[in-house]
Amino acid sequence: MNAQEAYYRSGIDYRRGSPHLAQPALHDRLVEVLRASVHRLAEQGLPLRVLEIGAGHGGFTMQALALGCDVTAVDMSRSSIEELQRRFGTNPKLRALYVPDGELSHVDGDYSLLIFVSVLHHIPDYIAFLREASQRIVRGGSLLTLQDPILYSRHRAAHRAGLAAYFAWRLAQGSLIAGLQTRLRRMRGALDEANPRDMVEYHVVRNGVDEEAVLSFARGAFAEATLIPYWSSQLAVAQRLGERLGLHNSFGMVAHGCDSALSLPWRGPGLNESGLPDAVIIRFMCVV
Ligand SMILES: C[S@@+](CC[C@H](N)C(=O)[O-])C[C@H]1O[C@@H](n2cnc3c(N)ncnc32)[C@H](O)[C@@H]1O
Repeated sequence: MNAQEAYYRSGIDYRRGSPHLAQPALHDRLVEVLRASVHRLAEQGLPLRVLEIGAGHGGFTMQALALGCDVTAVDMSRSSIEELQRRFGTNPKLRALYVPDGELSHVDGDYSLLIFVSVLHHIPDYIAFLREASQRIVRGGSLLTLQDPILYSRHRAAHRAGLAAYFAWRLAQGSLIAGLQTRLRRMRGALDEANPRDMVEYHVVRNGVDEEAVLSFARGAFAEATLIPYWSSQLAVAQRLGERLGLHNSFGMVAHGCDSALSLPWRGPGLNESGLPDAVIIRFMCVV
């Protein structure tokens, strides 16, 4: 069983410890970013086909489906995929894919929007993964990443404030000893590769996610890319306080206009709109 599956087993509640799902104002704000991206694709006349990596129980899958998108939702946890099917499987616009090894080779098709919500920090080489996943985006399409921790070494004060809020929240939660042991191991930099707690949120345990590297990747592959720094905390009072103080410990990134200059032809049966032979249809894929 892979570490993601071992951690995200049957019965887990993704809302617990997830500010982007549990804090209403933050959740609304992030959903609005998704909504704006989908509206933009609709205005461009692109098909509303979404690929969501690491969909979990569908906190954001549900929003994309409600916006009328066809959604391919992928996850490394079998029980999460089963729960996703149980919740939304009657919607013919959902395709749920279990990918135990987390490899993109199992994912076919092309998409106008690629989304990662609270997932990049689970992936060891997230830039290579972003590059490969973006090859499934059609020309003009978009990429949206939400809810990753910013690079701690670049934002030490915000990171410490976030940790303090986390500890205050953690005191009221179950399995306190195991949780504190994990935190102490992390603070000493002693990571246990056999322990899913140390492996599952790969970059939370290490140094956060390099938001500048994510932005720089997107700037190279999309016509425009915007970083969305924000504050998120499990503790409601800390959420309000951090927002009021304008702190940033998390980020999202939205990129539009998957680069046409770098596009490659994708061949299939049919007619293309570029004057090429009737038997050839070209769908331009974003190549990065
Ligand atoms: C923190 S959860 C987020 C779930 C959901 N997006 C949400 O916001 O509620 C991270 C999810 O990503 C999945 N995951 C991690 N790496 C993955 C990969 N390479 N491919 C597919 N899913 C992955 C995990 O199994 C887990 O369900």
